[in-house]
Amino acid sequence: MDHSKMGIFVLVWLFLLVLHYSTCAADAISERKNVLFIIADDLRTSLGCYGDSLAKSPNIDQLASKSQVFLNTFAQQAVCAPSRTSMLTSRRPDTTRLYDFNSYWRVHSGNYTTLPQYFKSQGYFTMSVGKVFHPGIASNMTDDYPYSWSIPAYHPPSFRYEKKKVCKGEDGKLHVNLLCAVNVAEQPGGTLPDLESVDEAVRLLKTRPNDGTPFFLAVGFHKPHIPFRIPQEYLSLYPLAQMTLATDPDVPERLPPVAYNPWVDLRKREDVQKLNISFPYGPIPKDFQLRIRQHYYAAVSYMDAQVGRLLSALGDLGLANNTMVVFTSDHG
Ligand SMILES: *[C@@H]1O[C@H](CO)[C@@H](O)[C@H](O)[C@H]1NC(C)=O
Ligand SMILES: *[C@@H]1O[C@H](CO)[C@@H](O)[C@H](O)[C@H]1NC(C)=O
Ligand SMILES: *[C@@H]1O[C@H](CO)[C@@H](O)[C@H](O)[C@H]1NC(C)=O
Ligand SMILES: *[C@@H]1O[C@H](CO)[C@@H](O)[C@H](O)[C@H]1NC(C)=O
Repeated sequence: MDHSKMGIFVLVWLFLLVLHYSTCAADAISERKNVLFIIADDLRTSLGCYGDSLAKSPNIDQLASKSQVFLNTFAQQAVCAPSRTSMLTSRRPDTTRLYDFNSYWRVHSGNYTTLPQYFKSQGYFTMSVGKVFHPGIASNMTDDYPYSWSIPAYHPPSFRYEKKKVCKGEDGKLHVNLLCAVNVAEQPGGTLPDLESVDEAVRLLKTRPNDGTPFFLAVGFHKPHIPFRIPQEYLSLYPLAQMTLATDPDVPERLPPVAYNPWVDLRKREDVQKLNISFPYGPIPKDFQLRIRQHYYAAVSYMDAQVGRLLSALGDLGLANNTMVVFTSDHG
């Protein structure tokens, strides 16, 4: 795929930045570029490069400053699995007929070629780290390996603790919380999923076939998806006093109930349960709203720092000038 086709292909996605570290036209013609495809989870445009003045996202902003930034873009389905399947097969949800997590497109809709599969068929070495396809049934329990990937997909082992009692509450005890800013050293294994994913991505960049075979490396970050299990230091970037409430917090009048999401998943977390918020429409207390927003932004900054680590690794390994970088999200 040349650069312009790549741009057209991804234009419909929620938002996207393409970085093309090209040196000169001659290099671009003589050499097939590698691709680093980064996808965040539940990221909206809470980024400096999209004009959010609260957000601290220096690494993504710097990438954006050298990139094509797409401003007129859409979430085709506000749920991970169908959104990712749609994006990665380049087909709308109307075509995939996938609206949940419980079917594999090759069986349910069609044996569609995916973006990484296409690169693989063109001689690229393709690798998946973290959440790229939605894991599980949605990608046949294999992240669509071996169709899409040259080697089995990697998932960070510490993700298994994501919904466990690992968040220290005000009582000093461990809980299953929504707000879960942690001391990483105290976490099981002393790490977090997105930290592990960058470690693995860098390891793969170092050990991949180095015989001139170009690579397509997809790295899927779990943040800023809930729970906000993030290194606690990112919270200090967002003092509560500076946080603002949503400008339009109310349930729309005459909203058809079917169009409302009562966030049952959030209600299961112990810190949210404690608030005893009436179901389904009861408002979240304002101080908790502020803390949710603070943690979301902190999760964005934490994820942004991982993007920075990946881009630094490209530089350190001498890959920066022949690797195209794509940054996107599933929806948010
Ligand atoms: C799906 O397509 C792949 C090639 O893209 C092919 O290898 C495989 O046999 C096909 N599977 C079915 C069930 O048609
Ligand atoms: C899905 O995985 C199963 C079990 O590994 C395998 O038998 C089946 O062929 C896969 N489906 C497709 C369409 O490849
Ligand atoms: C929770 O809220 C309901 C009303 O929505 C109230 O009847 C109940 O007593 C509350 N429970 C606690 C433990 O505060
Ligand atoms: C990339 O940059 C390095 C160092 O600046 C240079 O040696 C190399 O030839 C460049 N590669 C390409 C493809 O431009």
